[in-house]
Formats: sequence, structure tokens, C-alpha cells
Amino acid sequence: MIIQNLTLHNFRNYEDETFSFTDGVNVLVGRNAQGKTNCAEAVFYLCTGASLRIRHDKQLIRKGTDCAVLRAETQSRFGPVALEAHIFENKRELFLNGNKVSRAVDFLGNMKSVFFSPGELRIVQDGPDERRRFLNLSISQTSKAYASALLRYNKILDQRNNLLKERDVGLIFETLPVWDEQLASYAAVLIRHRREYLKQLSPLAAEAHSFLTDGGEELRLSADGDYPETEGEIAEKLKKELSSAYERDVRLGFTTVGPHRDDIRILVDGNDARGFASQGQTRTAALSMKLAELEIFKRLSGEAPVLILDDVMSELDLPRRKKLLARTQGVQCILTCTHAERLLYGKETHKIRIQGGRIVR
Ligand SMILES: Nc1ncnc2c1ncn2[C@@H]1O[C@H](COP(=O)(O)OP(=O)(O)O)[C@@H](O)[C@H]1O
Ligand SMILES: [Mg+2]
Repeated sequence: MIIQNLTLHNFRNYEDETFSFTDGVNVLVGRNAQGKTNCAEAVFYLCTGASLRIRHDKQLIRKGTDCAVLRAETQSRFGPVALEAHIFENKRELFLNGNKVSRAVDFLGNMKSVFFSPGELRIVQDGPDERRRFLNLSISQTSKAYASALLRYNKILDQRNNLLKERDVGLIFETLPVWDEQLASYAAVLIRHRREYLKQLSPLAAEAHSFLTDGGEELRLSADGDYPETEGEIAEKLKKELSSAYERDVRLGFTTVGPHRDDIRILVDGNDARGFASQGQTRTAALSMKLAELEIFKRLSGEAPVLILDDVMSELDLPRRKKLLARTQGVQCILTCTHAERLLYGKETHKIRIQGGRIVR
């Protein structure tokens, strides 16, 4: 899958620009704060329906305007796909091949991307939220069942948490079982998908890590949480756990069990990478997980996703940079770098210079 053109209208610091990408390595070159990451973010948004870090789409709209438009023409193995998003302050409209789609799940995953930046080291370093975010974004791109279960789960979870903050304890205890029935069934979908995904991701990440470290280190990923085999059994188990946590949940005012609390363990040479791994090991582990993600997307959809590398190359030593580029042969890359390092990528790359939200032609 490749993205051929990307048009940005009133998106971040872009007023009106169209990028043309090649199917190889595209390098966005420019000084700081010119719009390189913004361009990468736009590609990511069209893949996932989510922006990189922010909570409110509003920040994506160019200051002083009221609607941002992102448009991409892509080529998948099934033919051309056009993706378009209109982002307003309080709503957005998504279009697939010119037709408005009412459900976000029908939009996301039509173009797939793997995104890596120094910020992604948080997956290894930070709390479980970051790892769940990684799983959610990654699995949602490949499974509509997961994406829609996740939306519903979160909605019910919000409602359940609101209920837990009620004053009328009688009402709470009466109503909780109603929510739990639904919560547990969506939770089971999430848990089963995550387990399947990790089963694939773990050996691929281990292999990538070994490749990047010349076999010097071993990476292992595993899910915490102990769940039975089928979705039905998982849901039953969760329902029991939810009901035995009622008092605690009421006291704390939020739901303390479920997949919104689960984590992945990341072990480098048998040690928990969080808090133990050096900066270099952390970077390699995170990169290995992303390369594994890329491989899974390839297997599941029969074609490579777009690989976005934002500010990553400068942080890697030359041998690793070469390895990474070798690994991504045949994958469309969009990578960003500053002026000083632009020479590092050889002649075959397609360079696009960016200055103040404009392409310099
Ligand atoms: N909604 C917005 N409207 C106008 N400018 C924005 C908006 N959001 C971000 N910017 C500007 O975009 C620039 C940062 O762009 P970015 O892509 O992160 O830079 P870099 O080239 O370093 O990756 C900053 O100058 C910031 O002020
Ligand atoms: Mg940047």
C-alpha cells in the first residue's frame, strides 16, 4: 500500500499544500518547527482516525480558521483508495472514495501505517496506558471487530464509571449488573484479539531485536492477565471479577478490573525493560516492536503499510540506521530529518523541503 498524494488544507501550519510521494523513501527535510511532524501526523490521522498525541482534534485546525481538510490518494493491491477527513471544532466528517462514512471503524485501516518517533519510546518506558494505546491503535487498524468493540467498551466503561460516582448506593448496586453484562462481552473481544496479536507480535519483535543487536540481546513480550480460552469463558470470568470488586469500585469511583487495566510485559534479557533498560536498549526494543507491527500488517493485509519515521534516524548509530533501511526495502517510508542530516540517505531518496508550512520547490 502506498500513499501517492497528500493534500493539507488549513491543517496545523499548512494553508494549502499537496505532497507527492514515491513508493520508496521520502525524506521531509527542514529546520525545526516547519511542519515535518505535522505532515507525518496527517498521514497517521488518515490511517487511524486518531492524532498522534492530542486529545482534541481542534488543535489540528490551523489557527484562525475553522475547518481542516486532509485528503490522500492511495494505492492498495485492490486499487486506488481516496481518504478524506474534514475536521471541525466539534465534529469531523470522514469520506472514503468520495462517500461519507458514518462510522469511524469503516474509515480506519483502509490505509495502514506504522509510526515511530522518539516519543514512541514511551511504550517501553512509561506506564501501561502507553502499551494499551499501542495495542489499541495497532489492532484497530487490522480488525474492525476490535475497533468497534473498543469504542463500545469505552462508552460503557464511561457510563459505568459515572454510575460509580452516584450518591445513591442502592441504585448503583442495582444497575451495575446491567452494565457488566455488556462490558464483559466487549472486554472478551478485546482480550482475545490482544492475545492473538501478542502471540504474533512477540516472536517477530524478538527476531527484529536480535537482528538490530546482532543477536546480542533477547527481547520478550508477554501479556499479563490470566484469561481462559474462549470469549464466552473470558466474559464469564470477568463478570465474576467485576462483581467481586463492587465495593472497591464504589469506594474508588471507577472500574478497577478489565482490559483497560491490563498491561504487556517487555523483557530485555529477562529483565523488565521499564526502569531497567538503557536509553539505547529502550530505543531498540521500541523499534523492534514497530518492525514487528509492520510485519504483522504485511501478513494480514498482504501488503506493506506506510512506515513513518519521525526524527528517528538522527538518534540511531550508522550501523543501525543501515539495518533499519535494509529491513524496510520495498516499504514506502516517510521520514523526517533536519537539514544537517539530509545527506545521510543517499541519492535514491525523494527529498521534500519544508519551510513554514510550505513545500519549497
Ligand atoms: N493548529 C495550528 N495552527 C497553526 N500552526 C500550528 C498549529 N499546530 C501547530 N502549529 C505550528 O506547527 C509548527 C510545528 O510543526 P512541526 O511539524 O511539529 O515541526 P517540525 O518540522 O519540527 O516537525 C509550530 O510552529 C507550531 O506553531
Ligand atoms: Mg518534528
